[in-house]
Amino acid sequence: MAKHTSLAVILAAGEGKRMRSDRAKVLHEIGGRPMLGHVLSSVAAARIDRAAVVVGVGGDTVADYLRDSAPEVAVYRQKGQHGTAHAVLAARRALADEPDHVLVLYGDTPFVTPATLRRVRQRLARGADVVVLGFRSDDPTGYGRLLVEKGRLLAIREQADASADELDVDLCNAGIMGFAGAGLVRRLKRIGNGNAKGEFYLTDMVEVVNRAGGRVVAMEVAAAEVLGINARVELAAAEAAFQARARREAMAAGVTMIAPETVWLTHDTKLGRDVVIEPNVFFGPGVTVGAGATILANSHIVGATIAENARIGPFARLRPGARIGEGARVGNFVEVKNAELGKGAKVNHLTYIGDASIGAAANIGAGTITCNYDGFTKHRTEIGDGAFIGSNSSLIAPVTVGDGAYIGSGSVISRNVEDDALAVGRARQIDRPGWAAGFRRRHAGNRKATKKR
Ligand code: UD1
Ligand code: CA
Repeated sequence: MAKHTSLAVILAAGEGKRMRSDRAKVLHEIGGRPMLGHVLSSVAAARIDRAAVVVGVGGDTVADYLRDSAPEVAVYRQKGQHGTAHAVLAARRALADEPDHVLVLYGDTPFVTPATLRRVRQRLARGADVVVLGFRSDDPTGYGRLLVEKGRLLAIREQADASADELDVDLCNAGIMGFAGAGLVRRLKRIGNGNAKGEFYLTDMVEVVNRAGGRVVAMEVAAAEVLGINARVELAAAEAAFQARARREAMAAGVTMIAPETVWLTHDTKLGRDVVIEPNVFFGPGVTVGAGATILANSHIVGATIAENARIGPFARLRPGARIGEGARVGNFVEVKNAELGKGAKVNHLTYIGDASIGAAANIGAGTITCNYDGFTKHRTEIGDGAFIGSNSSLIAPVTVGDGAYIGSGSVISRNVEDDALAVGRARQIDRPGWAAGFRRRHAGNRKATKKR
């Protein structure tokens, strides 16, 4: 199929009124990525040469998103909402060089797989002029119906234009279509708007091509794959479907999840073999977990890289730029941000490590805080290999603690500490033998006096 050139046109000009949102519908996220991003990722995985996105009035935010995340994608504007055929024509410049295969997808139908897109192209390569994706539904209300006879797709009838017999058809139009690109613009212009809505329907291409003696076929796919999202409830259902699939794939790849339905993943979460995940763990964008690592219950992890055999949580929070070394440990109520933990380092309890690097096998005591922020600038804390930071210490950045250095508990460290040195930065202890007993005696005698006062 490599010899066939290809283009995907993704329609995203819909107003998405039923979302009741100030955000463009196709920018609502599933698995932490806009639904339009899911469509583009399938298009790329199917090795389609080029992609064009048609946005509507107010499509600036969509254009911004594409500029940042997919600058190679061409953006076209549809003026007014005059139907899906009109929308495709908005991208006519992308069609001008007549790519062999043109696939039209909807920005609000995010789950179509690369395998399906490849199958559509195979049908085109075998001589079909139009390929339409269909699915079966118990409740086809609202969908266009595919009218098939002897393996040929005769027409797509929109709900509002369908006869009683046609309404009984349960094979629905998924919206996704493939076209032979030669002469496509000319044929698109032939589509009229003599339907109930007065719009130019791309679906009418089926009849246009049939009349010209072309080959039109329907290709059935699972309904879940062509789920369209028009409202928040559908968005939530799509999220649930995404999560279920992401968990299944993770487990199939060798991840143990004790309670999979409580583990939240993002589209780019990477989990190695024999990773074990306890209940109630959230993975935000940009997380990689190495083989054999364990994520204990109730941990929240975003933008972090966790090396092999590390142990995180319970109740740990890893923020962007956390890089946890091999076999290192991050325990309960520990927050790590933009910081590196060396191999086998331990930060086990009640600690904040921000803008820091911690050497291999260093031990960070309970309640340690890197004081990284002075109200204006962030500063770094460097802790050497094998250093020991006593509990409840404050490290006032910028500051360096050398390899093998030892910080006495409760220290406030504001100056660099040499390798293998001891630093204690706290008030000296005062001892007065018998003082407490005397204190209690005095108070026992004074109880009445105290009450009177
Ligand atoms: C469409 C199909 C219908 C199919 C259903 C599947 C047509 C005429 N009907 O109906 O057969 O069963 O999808 O979900 O195609 N769009 C534009 N510009 C426009 C109009 C639409 O960009 O002027 C985009 C929308 O953003 C959306 C897609 O095209 O992504 C479909 O439009 P929509 O109005 O939602 O069509 P449906 O009525 O759902
Ligand atoms: Ca729709």
